[in-house]
Amino acid sequence: MTAPTGGPEAPPRLLIRDLEQLASPAGRGAPLRGEALGDVDLIEGAFVLCEGDRIAAVGRMRELTPLGDDVEELDGRGLCAIPGLVDCHTHACFAGDRVEEFALRAEGASYEQLHAAGGGILATVRATRGAGEAALADAVRRHTGWMLRHGTTTVEAKSGYGLDRDTELASLRAIREAGAIPTWLGAHAVPPEFDSADAYLDFALEQVLPEAARLAAAADVFLERGAFDAAQARRYLEACRDAGLALRLHGDQFTEAGAIPLALELGARSVDHLEATGDGGIRALAASDVVGVLLPASALFLARPMPPARALVDVGAAIALATDFNPGSAFCESLPLVCSLACTQLRLGPAEALAACTVNAAHVLGCADHVGRIAPGYEANVVLLDAPDWRYLAYHLGGDVVASVIRRGEVVGGVR
Ligand code: NIG
Ligand code: FE
Repeated sequence: MTAPTGGPEAPPRLLIRDLEQLASPAGRGAPLRGEALGDVDLIEGAFVLCEGDRIAAVGRMRELTPLGDDVEELDGRGLCAIPGLVDCHTHACFAGDRVEEFALRAEGASYEQLHAAGGGILATVRATRGAGEAALADAVRRHTGWMLRHGTTTVEAKSGYGLDRDTELASLRAIREAGAIPTWLGAHAVPPEFDSADAYLDFALEQVLPEAARLAAAADVFLERGAFDAAQARRYLEACRDAGLALRLHGDQFTEAGAIPLALELGARSVDHLEATGDGGIRALAASDVVGVLLPASALFLARPMPPARALVDVGAAIALATDFNPGSAFCESLPLVCSLACTQLRLGPAEALAACTVNAAHVLGCADHVGRIAPGYEANVVLLDAPDWRYLAYHLGGDVVASVIRRGEVVGGVR
């Protein structure tokens, strides 16, 4: 009898060996909150074995048994491994830039003044509408490529700079093509061809939602003075929920306008920003399953107050960290920098910051059962830090801390 031929090939194996440290959020659950947010599994002298796009084994070097010949090896000496970072809030699909506004803000103009004068988000809407789908796809690939170099292996990206049918749908397709998780931010601003937010929502919910719901995983709304009020946000979100989308909100960025109560009532995945959240909102969020997504790079970029991160964690709210990458309020693709801000400005510890931009961010995106940890069965997403201690992730402020990135078992960034 001859050996069978043509059977399925064994998946390629990658062994990352002799790591100084491996750090991964403890346990298997999500989201982590309270004291559990700071629990990290730490292995000194570690290895990670990837098989295909999954992690097969993790352990100490001295426990590593012979693996045979067909294993690619990566030397981890001098490096630390953490899970691939998860950016659960970005606006990566846009054309043009807002560097002129950045310079005006440096001279004292405020973000809200620029928005009210027809700049801000609407300036990016004009550029994005003029770009065409191929250029938008290029832009998303370029932006997510920047993120990857900073260790982000899973990324959400929102539409919201089209606000007409063609450009919103082209944005969602461009985000999908780049391998990111699309969110329909159909209620980001009221475009100039509509007299009112309600008239715009009539159009968006009738003409865009049916196709957007096929392309996107979630819907998002900017609930804020000058954008959409709570009644308009409710109308938008209820329609999106009925069309099968998970719900997110931009809330409490400048004012408390009812975002947290609405998020709780509708069972949203998250409410994001929270720079203006007071005690009542903090307590309400803590008693709920809604994740507070904190965006300290945006608060820094706009010279706004930081969100009440420590208070949220101390009363038991689930939090995540994200960049908010966008051309106006946070032109920042680096989650390591966000972790530095979390530790220096939000009074989180490095382990809390790590969990917030891995497993908890994955929970916001609905994929925490297989993304956000270095553990058997999870997606083989690993960041190798050029550091003797994994906490350099936050400690090395603005540093070149990412030595290499492995995404779904493939080395996608060079090893130093
Ligand atoms: O999350 N606040 C609303 N949206 C974005 C900013 C978008 C822009 O300025 O282009 C944010 O900060
Ligand atoms: Fe945002």
